[in-house]
Amino acid sequence: ARLVVLVSGSGTNLQSLLDAVAADPDGYGARIVAVGADRDGIAGLERAERAGLPTFVCRVKDHPTREGWDRALTEATAAHEPDLIVSAGFMKIVGREFLARFGGRVVNTHPALLPSFPGAHGVRDALAYGAKVTGCTVHFVDDGVDTGPIIAQGAVEVRDEDDESALHERIKEVERELLVDVVGRLARNGYRIEGRKVRIP
Ligand code: GRF
Repeated sequence: ARLVVLVSGSGTNLQSLLDAVAADPDGYGARIVAVGADRDGIAGLERAERAGLPTFVCRVKDHPTREGWDRALTEATAAHEPDLIVSAGFMKIVGREFLARFGGRVVNTHPALLPSFPGAHGVRDALAYGAKVTGCTVHFVDDGVDTGPIIAQGAVEVRDEDDESALHERIKEVERELLVDVVGRLARNGYRIEGRKVRIP
C-alpha cells in the first residue's frame, strides 16, 4: 500500500513507520511515498528528506480561505496516489474536500483514550483532570474532531510526578508501536468499517 504521512512536529511517529518499512520492505505491506506538513522547518520534514522522500507543505496562511487550504492539501496529497493517509501528529483538522476524496482511508493517532480528552491538548487535559490511566488511540478520521471509528488503543499509567512532557513521552512509546502495528495490518489485510466498528480480517 502507498502511504502519505502528514506531520506538524518532531515526526517520531513518522520515523517509526519509516523504520518499520526499512526493516521489512516486502513484509510490512506498505511504503511511504510522500510526507506532507502544515508548516516548514520541522524535524518531521527533515526525517522525510533524510529518507529521500518527496515532501509538501500546505500552510493555512498561504490561502485566503480555509477551503482553499483544504483543496491545496487534497491536491498535494492526491498527487502521490495514496492508498492510505496517516495523520501522525498533524495538528490541523482536514476539511470536507479532503474527506470527500480520502474518507475511510485517513488514519489518525491521538495521545489519549478517546472519547476522553479529544482535541489539541489531550495529554495536558488528562493530566489536569487527574486521570490515573490515559493512553493513545489510533482511529479513522471522520468529519468530527477525533471522533472517527476506533481501530486500536493502548493504556499508559499516569504517575504522580508526571508533567505534560514526561507523560507525553511515555504515551509516545506506546503510540509508535500501536501505529506501526495498525498501519501494517490495515495495509496487509485490508479492512472494513462497519458503523463504529473496524474489521481487519
Ligand atoms: C503524537 O503524540 C500525536 O498523537 C500528537 O502529537 C504527537 C506527535 O509526535 N498529536 P511526533 O510528531 O510524531 O513526534
